[in-house]
Amino acid sequence: LVETRFPEDNSVVGGGVGVISLHRPKALNALCDALFDDLIHAVRAFDGDDDIGCIVITGSGKAFAAGADISEMSKREFADVYKKNMFSQWADITKVSKPIIAAINGFALGGGCELAMMCDILLAGSKAQFGQPEINLGVIPGAGGTQRLIRAVGKSKAMEMCLTGNRISAQEALDIGLVSKVIETEFLLEEAVKMGFSIADKGSVSVRMCKEAVNAAEEMTLAEGLRFERRLFHALFATKDQKEVELKGVRLKISKVPEV
Ligand code: HXC
Repeated sequence: LVETRFPEDNSVVGGGVGVISLHRPKALNALCDALFDDLIHAVRAFDGDDDIGCIVITGSGKAFAAGADISEMSKREFADVYKKNMFSQWADITKVSKPIIAAINGFALGGGCELAMMCDILLAGSKAQFGQPEINLGVIPGAGGTQRLIRAVGKSKAMEMCLTGNRISAQEALDIGLVSKVIETEFLLEEAVKMGFSIADKGSVSVRMCKEAVNAAEEMTLAEGLRFERRLFHALFATKDQKEVELKGVRLKISKVPEV
């Protein structure tokens, strides 16, 4: 249900990009249990692959993912979903240490929007649509929609989306800060992969720590976060990457200081 592949110029060790395409066209990539299991498996495999420095998740056809699978959900009872802690395994996406770029080509609804928000950088194709329509099904978002959306776009817009279930366009998602770029659909994956290469090209430890520090901001007070950031910053002085880059920095400093 997912396709994984390496773009052509994936030759440099550690500098590669792993692309995962959701592929369940008959249901607009609705995230049934089997699809999500395949996705987690693929993401974990890339996270453990030393050739890969950045991961891209995208959809196919007109959907990124149209949500959790409604037909699977409709059969379940409270005791069943509660005892199994349904959807708790989705959080495994956020345990991945390498950056994940979501290339959102089309519908990102319900669990699809929540999956996108679990990723680190959200790029929208020009035809993408975002929404949390769970309220129309008598439930609420269950994989971070009420929590991550408010952090991304603020209370009023998050409330509006969760309470009305209305969809927003790629441009509106950009305007409210849900995504960082809108790209013509036909170039979306290419641009996401290009961005992936530019990240994978950097020091692998600093990239991971940077992701960890930025994500920590959602869970810590400012004082805790600043302390955490500084400790990670200090720790990076123990890496080879920092030593190499520092030399370049010194050259840069010498040429610039007289101009200041
Ligand atoms: C199962 C789905 C599905 C879904 C679409 N399909 N979304 N199947 N679960 N979430 C299926 C349809 O049943 C249909 O199958 C086929 O995909 C094509 O869909 P259409 O509706 O014919 O396409 P279209 O008219 O283009 O409309 C697209 C759409 C609409 C606007 C995205 O499909 C839609 O509203 N889907 C539901 C979106 C939704 O409510 N998502 C939230 C789910 S709840 P057939 O066999 O008829 O061709 C959720 C909870 C998350 O995500 C909780 C935590 C994880």
